[in-house]
Amino acid sequence: RIVYLNGQFLPYEEARVPIMDRGFLFADGIYEVSAIIDGKLVDNAAHLARLDRSLGEIGIRNPHDAAGWERLQTELVARNGVVEGLVYMQVTRGVAERDFAFPKAGTEPTVVMFTQAKTVLANPLAESGARVITVEDLRWKRRDIKSVALLAQVLAKQQAAEAGVAEAWMVEDGAVTEGSSSTAFIIGRDRVLVTRPLSTALLPGITRASVLRLAQEADLRIEERLIPVEEVYAAQEAFYTSASAFVMPVVEIDGRAIGDGRPGALTRRLRELYIEAAR
Ligand code: PDD
Repeated sequence: RIVYLNGQFLPYEEARVPIMDRGFLFADGIYEVSAIIDGKLVDNAAHLARLDRSLGEIGIRNPHDAAGWERLQTELVARNGVVEGLVYMQVTRGVAERDFAFPKAGTEPTVVMFTQAKTVLANPLAESGARVITVEDLRWKRRDIKSVALLAQVLAKQQAAEAGVAEAWMVEDGAVTEGSSSTAFIIGRDRVLVTRPLSTALLPGITRASVLRLAQEADLRIEERLIPVEEVYAAQEAFYTSASAFVMPVVEIDGRAIGDGRPGALTRRLRELYIEAAR
């Protein structure tokens, strides 16, 4: 397995980051995940634009322009022979003696990239539908930044795992913010697709944006507004989106069946449309 670290393609075993890396000590960094299908990157320009924005929001210089990133990603995907899976990119503020404030002397950002071969298209969970629990959203107030500080999401996903379900939807003030690693959607009566509007309370999902565009083309009505948990329970259909799940049907939330307890027809259609557009 070949990974990328600071300008070099290396065997995974040889890639080492110093313990003083601010990513390790402070989670002072950001990341991105793009899907690969048929050996090609999915929605990659939008992922690279969000990577640039996340870096800007925390004052780390972007070490590459979009074309430079894509060259590195493409080479890494080819070197690993990945046909279907993910490419992970991470940039931290770099290595310095431990001090909370940014190092005065400046640092070289630490850049890490690796691929994961994974079944994205023929995912059995997409056939059966996912079960979800709701948990309290314990995160900070800048969730629009794709920060590597993911402890609240780690704990949320662990609660889901212990409950034997696939995802946790996080709730704040009685409304769903998003999934622990995905964007939450419901479909109500009259083909109304509902998802939370973008704000600092959630990550601006790249898959979310693509799915909203496809939903519009498929004549669904779209409402971007808060989704109270009670409305989730009463939804006709529900699903979540991410670079790794694409469009994932939800069939049960907190033990309550959604619709007839099987993946909804409009959800399945949106998944097909998304995969078609990605190819
Ligand atoms: N997670 N919300 C959160 C909190 C996320 O972590 C993610 C993605 C999303 C969906 O965003 P996108 O459609 O751009 O992937 C929403 C990635 C896949 C991860 O952490 O692995």
